[in-house]
Amino acid sequence: MNAGLCLPKRSSIFGLEFWIGIRDWNSQSMRMNRLGSRFVWQVLGTCLLVSFATRAQSPQTIADQFSTAERLKKPGWWPTKGNAPKDEYVGPAACTRCHSDIAASQKTTPMARTARPPSDSELLRSHDKVDLSQGPYKYEMTRTAEGEVYTTTDGQQTISEPLTWAFGTGNHGQSYLFEHQGSLYETRLTYYQSSQTFGLTPNHPLSPAESLEKAIGRKISSAEAQKCFGCHTTASSVSGVFTPSKATPGVTCEVCHGPGAAHAAAEKNGFRDEGAAFVLNPARLAPADSVDFCGACHRTWWDVNQDGFTGIATLRFPAYRLEKSRCWGNGDARITCMACHDPHQLLAKEPASYDQRCLSCHKISGSEPKADHPGAACTVSTKDCVTCHMPKYETPEMHTKFTDHMIRVVKKDAPIPD
Ligand code: HEC
Ligand code: HEC
Ligand code: HEC
Ligand code: HEC
Ligand code: HEC
Ligand code: HEC
Ligand code: HEC
Repeated sequence: MNAGLCLPKRSSIFGLEFWIGIRDWNSQSMRMNRLGSRFVWQVLGTCLLVSFATRAQSPQTIADQFSTAERLKKPGWWPTKGNAPKDEYVGPAACTRCHSDIAASQKTTPMARTARPPSDSELLRSHDKVDLSQGPYKYEMTRTAEGEVYTTTDGQQTISEPLTWAFGTGNHGQSYLFEHQGSLYETRLTYYQSSQTFGLTPNHPLSPAESLEKAIGRKISSAEAQKCFGCHTTASSVSGVFTPSKATPGVTCEVCHGPGAAHAAAEKNGFRDEGAAFVLNPARLAPADSVDFCGACHRTWWDVNQDGFTGIATLRFPAYRLEKSRCWGNGDARITCMACHDPHQLLAKEPASYDQRCLSCHKISGSEPKADHPGAACTVSTKDCVTCHMPKYETPEMHTKFTDHMIRVVKKDAPIPD
């Protein structure tokens, strides 16, 4: 079903009013009942047959994709769900006993290392002193015997607090959190990989704050913090209660596979079938579900659509971009995130290592697609496909490059398609 194809033609079928309604809804000024809208999309799908010629704007699998908020309401495990009780978790060390190879490599991935105590940050360790000035304020991060300390001063008064968390590996950037008078704050300073220096944190005001209290950083509400930790740590919320101090740093086994105590116990006692039933193996998810699964943190198509991101800002969201490419089609196991990425391994940087993924669908020569190879052959090259068809672009706010997962023929000087 391809609702996106139908949009420009819709007024002739449903009337103008409806078309405007969808537009408004997309731009968030109007929130339709989501169940109703899913039904609408399904009905709209029926007009797909008339409009095959146009390029898809929304994924053909639109009716099978969900926002993460909707996924979290469904029964069963899903990343970022925080409702399981503490005693259902065993921690990543317990998985190591029986899955030592996976555990050894997963530990080295950016996902596993995406949040940690500041004392474990190589970035902070390799800088003796970090500072930045903004108007009358001077910011400093210094290493002391008690740990990393963040200081803001206006020359007369000073506020100092220990840093509590480093977020992000630094592959793109690293931000820092601290507590002040019982609330969580984000520091004004963020490390940027592109410039290899510390600069002002994204989304922080460019002009100096009116008071020292306000200048120290951005206060993060408990609701927002719960989300940050849900995507960057393991078991920060248990039984629905947010307790960041008890979180296991980083995205570890039980974030994706669900709490594992029952699985580990069953396997230990030789109950194989029962053991498997107690963990989620994402390999069994249907393609549309599978991409939403990684989208629980990387954002699903609906998450991006509902949050109103457009243009180059969407480059950060691989699920959204991928599902817009013609390769995605009706959803296919050969083009899910897992088809190209093993979440237990480091990201493959060698372009050639992706060729077989492309060639599982594209012919290497000849133009006639076959049933098992629905994609045409390239008329330009037979290797290093991603170098031309998945280029990297710098996003303005992060000053860092992201890979465009909207696989396509890139026209020279043409704008990046939305
Ligand atoms: C006592 C040993 C043991 C422990 C501890 C253990 N597992 Fe397993 N696990 C197994 C065995 C055995 C299998 C079945 C492997 C096979 O397919 O032959 C398995 C299978 C799995 C599967 C695939 C299930 C499927 O349906 O295909 C996942 C995912 C998994 N384990 C995750 C974990 C995680 C996460 C942890 C830690 C929370 C963990 N395991 C702890 C022994 C263990
Ligand atoms: C619980 C949240 C979460 C889930 C679920 C998740 N990711 Fe991630 N992922 C992250 C975060 C956070 C980072 C950023 C790591 C960093 O700080 O550099 C990341 C980074 C990555 C990277 C970049 C690694 C690099 O070298 O820069 C890849 C690739 C990736 N994830 C793939 C996946 C795939 C595939 C899935 C689904 C199987 C998935 N992720 C599911 C949170 C998640
Ligand atoms: C919905 C899940 C989600 C939430 C909520 C979230 N992050 Fe992330 N974060 C990610 C993923 C995925 C990445 C890696 C991909 C990317 O950079 O977009 C990431 C990357 C980062 C990075 C590395 C630099 C960068 O931008 O790539 C930092 C630092 C970071 N997040 C901090 C935070 C903080 C602080 C919060 C809360 C205020 C937060 N994140 C909330 C998922 C999330
Ligand atoms: C970011 C999500 C994510 C994290 C974190 C993660 N896994 Fe997985 N795991 C997956 C996905 C996706 C698959 C299915 C991969 C496939 O078959 O293509 C999988 C498959 C497995 C399997 C069964 C298939 C196999 O390769 O034998 C086991 C066992 C497993 N994971 C164990 C672990 C353990 C142990 C950890 C922690 C050290 C872990 N996983 C961390 C996403 C994750
Ligand atoms: C057809 C193959 C393919 C598929 C499918 C795919 N990726 Fe990628 N991905 C790549 C390539 C190629 C890179 C760039 C690797 C490098 O750094 O050279 C990449 C890079 C990334 C990065 C690192 C940040 C960046 O933008 O460079 C993240 C995160 C990521 N992918 C997540 C995902 C997620 C989540 C999905 C599923 C929605 C997905 N990918 C699907 C090929 C793929
Ligand atoms: C699941 C199968 C599948 C996979 C995997 C796949 N493609 Fe495709 N791709 C298709 C189909 C189907 C089309 C549409 C028919 C066509 O143009 O051949 C397509 C279209 C394309 C197009 C033309 C798009 C346009 O906008 O005109 C390019 C370029 C392309 N694919 C490159 C790639 C590259 C590079 C990879 C690997 C990174 C890849 N594909 C992986 C199935 C796939
Ligand atoms: C050097 C850059 C480059 C590399 C490498 C490359 N391509 Fe292409 N590809 C192009 C360009 C440019 C076009 C558009 C050609 C045209 O319009 O005549 C194209 C066209 C295509 C098309 C559309 C064909 C059609 O008939 O619509 C597909 C599919 C495709 N490439 C897939 C691939 C695959 C798969 C690989 C790897 C095996 C690959 N490309 C490697 C540059 C490249």
